[in-house]
Amino acid sequence: MPIAKAVRASLERGSWIRKMFEAGIELKARLGPDAVYDFSLGNPDLEPPAEFLAALKAAASSDELGSHAYMTNSGYPFARAAMAEKVALEHGVPTTADDVVMTVGAAGALNVILRTVVNPGDEVVVVRPYFAEYSAYVDNAGGVLVVADSAPDFSLDPDAVARVLSPRTAAVIVNSPNNPTGRVYPASAIAALAAVLSRHAAASGRAPYLVVDEPYRDIVYDGVAVPPVLSAYPDSVVASSFSKTLSIPGERLGYLAVNPACSDKALLMAGLAASNRVLGFVNAPALMQRAVAASWRAKADVSRYERRRAMLSAVLDEAGIRYARPEGAFYLFCEAPAAAAARAATGESAATGESADVAFAMALKDRGVLSVPGVGFGYPGWIRLCYCVPEATIEGSRKAFLDTMEAYRG
Ligand SMILES: Cc1ncc(COP(=O)(O)O)c(C=O)c1O
Repeated sequence: MPIAKAVRASLERGSWIRKMFEAGIELKARLGPDAVYDFSLGNPDLEPPAEFLAALKAAASSDELGSHAYMTNSGYPFARAAMAEKVALEHGVPTTADDVVMTVGAAGALNVILRTVVNPGDEVVVVRPYFAEYSAYVDNAGGVLVVADSAPDFSLDPDAVARVLSPRTAAVIVNSPNNPTGRVYPASAIAALAAVLSRHAAASGRAPYLVVDEPYRDIVYDGVAVPPVLSAYPDSVVASSFSKTLSIPGERLGYLAVNPACSDKALLMAGLAASNRVLGFVNAPALMQRAVAASWRAKADVSRYERRRAMLSAVLDEAGIRYARPEGAFYLFCEAPAAAAARAATGESAATGESADVAFAMALKDRGVLSVPGVGFGYPGWIRLCYCVPEATIEGSRKAFLDTMEAYRG
């Protein structure tokens, strides 16, 4: 049966993550699960916090009439009020329940936002390397993905964003803490970006929405803080979830929150609620709204991710693999050795080592290590390793990393 061209193209674009997933199944069957070190998926391996599990049990045992019924498309008022309190604390703006829509994960929030603000052919700016699914989400909304470079150390480069803005720019998505680099954008970078967007709005007559994708906000290290963003720019909206901070990605609970100072806010809120419905989500899962509204202050035990970060960094250091030291999230973005050599030889940008990432990911796979080539994040020459995996996986992988690098050098 034929399938739509856009879906076929998206299958091809996403094929490296899928190939690695399939390679993992094949490798586990062939080598045994203990000989396969899977760093490919950002699936938290920590159990959800006790507060969430207790709240979930309490919610599940409620016999209140209508607990499992349809509700207003935006979600339960008490869940939205809880999210408004959270966003007000994190972003320094006076959000209320009226500014919030409960969503099916951050992915649902992003799709709802883009469907609501993007006209066919409008542009959506992302910063590379970027979360691989953005291209599909922009496509779903009939938009065009426009890519801005980050600085060489993967920090936000507001001037690079300024260079790609146009009168067709509907939105700019920033993701901090970042997947795949682990970068956290400081307040100075956010202020500079806000100034760029405000200048563009004044000159073009169209203010792009600033979409703040932050499911990793609570997963940060070394005392780094994620600064507020909504307080810096009025036409802004947060997309977030509890997938990573409460380790419940399979439960699909997220939210979006609009800046109370956003222009045409009432119309925007009505549009967002309608998009939540007609995209087929209808409303976010009822049981999860109840459980999370009662437990959202709980956090993942970040010290355990910190230990994994230290363990995997030590393995990479020993193997001689260069990486960006993550300030947050749970990914290590590593330079493929051939790309590093090419960069040293030519002095070119780190992003020019096309297909070195695929070769490196394949060489690692041959020794049982699963990673994702950077091409999937719009950044060839680098690979992503997720360290939300058991410590035994990291310990077990050491020899495979050393042997792979030995083979490269040899
Ligand atoms: C940057 C980023 N945004 C959004 C999402 C989607 O998160 P959710 O599982 O809450 O839909 C992810 C998931 O990995 C992500 O890494």
